Amino acid sequence: MGRYLVTGGAGYVGSHLVLALLDAGHDVTVYDNLRQGHRGAVPGAARLVEADIGNARRLDVVLSDGPWDAVFHFAALSLVGESMKMPFLYFMENAAGGIRLIEACVHHGVTKFILSSTAALFGNPERIPIAENERVDPGSPYGESKLMIERTLHWAGKIHGLRYACLRYFNAAGADPAGRAGEDHTPETHLIPLVIDAALGRRPEIFVFGHDYPTPDGTCVRDYIHVTDLADAHLRALARLDAQSVTYNLGNGAGHSVLEVIRSVERVSGRKVPVRMGARREGDPAVLVAASDLLRSETGWLPKYAELDEIVRTAWAWREAHPGGYGD
Ligand SMILES: NC(=O)c1ccc[n+]([C@@H]2O[C@H](COP(=O)([O-])OP(=O)(O)OC[C@H]3O[C@@H](n4cnc5c(N)ncnc54)[C@H](O)[C@@H]3O)[C@@H](O)[C@H]2O)c1
Repeated sequence: MGRYLVTGGAGYVGSHLVLALLDAGHDVTVYDNLRQGHRGAVPGAARLVEADIGNARRLDVVLSDGPWDAVFHFAALSLVGESMKMPFLYFMENAAGGIRLIEACVHHGVTKFILSSTAALFGNPERIPIAENERVDPGSPYGESKLMIERTLHWAGKIHGLRYACLRYFNAAGADPAGRAGEDHTPETHLIPLVIDAALGRRPEIFVFGHDYPTPDGTCVRDYIHVTDLADAHLRALARLDAQSVTYNLGNGAGHSVLEVIRSVERVSGRKVPVRMGARREGDPAVLVAASDLLRSETGWLPKYAELDEIVRTAWAWREAHPGGYGD
């Protein structure tokens, strides 16, 4: 049994990792300010410390209560559009906060660190699917803030021997297949929950940003990875840290267009989704699909929920069962 600290563990992806850790019999402490996260997303079997990453004293107290087998760092602001308006907020909260956390981990003898990084590191990639050696050139302060943390980990590894995993997620989607957790963001910006809300009549329609992209149906193509598969990838990456630090791109390796997602929600829900076609949104690349070969070959990871309809089915089931989300 291991002891793990999960920052941002009351959020969407973090709460699914917490479930995976608990299911595997580990001891889990969640460190979250609950600004975007939810108390109800933290299972009773996990400890919750309600505090901000910027609270150095609180962080110090928690980290000194070790030993910790690893720290998983999910806590971040993650709205690309917001970061284009408020770059300093993202550099302070994400980059400076992450750097301080890494320094505190090194200070307290933590030897393994797993970072939620992002496909937003690859602003406008030259090669699809996107491999780990693709040129890194973030198209937003959000992506840049994650790159700063990745670079800090690189140097913390070189100088202090910290072992780290940089996990660059593409589009996390779906919900715990057992219905224990799901996606509840305010504001919601992710496509699948938005389309589900349109199917449920909670939004008037889905506005499609651009239908003249060089893709089969003209709409943007993205790589949706089930959040439970993502959690499994974290456990496998953690195991790799016994040998070395790693950086992985995390996606299904198959892309789906906006229209395909809408059709999938219609199939799963049996309801019609009102759609309005509109102009492109600035900064949206046509296709973002991960090459996850490295993760697969090095860890044996294989997505269990690879089909789009399966992903949507779990998201639909959670949303239907929790119309008010976590209710806080
Ligand atoms: N969801 C995705 O598709 C996706 C894709 C790529 C990368 N990521 C990254 O994965 C991580 C988790 O994403 P998510 O969708 O679960 O986000 P989320 O907003 O649901 O979860 C983030 C959690 O961190 C907490 N938090 C934020 N700032 C904090 C701070 N300063 N101190 C303490 N707690 C803080 C929030 O309250 C929330 O519970 C983020 O780092 C995000 O950048 C997510």
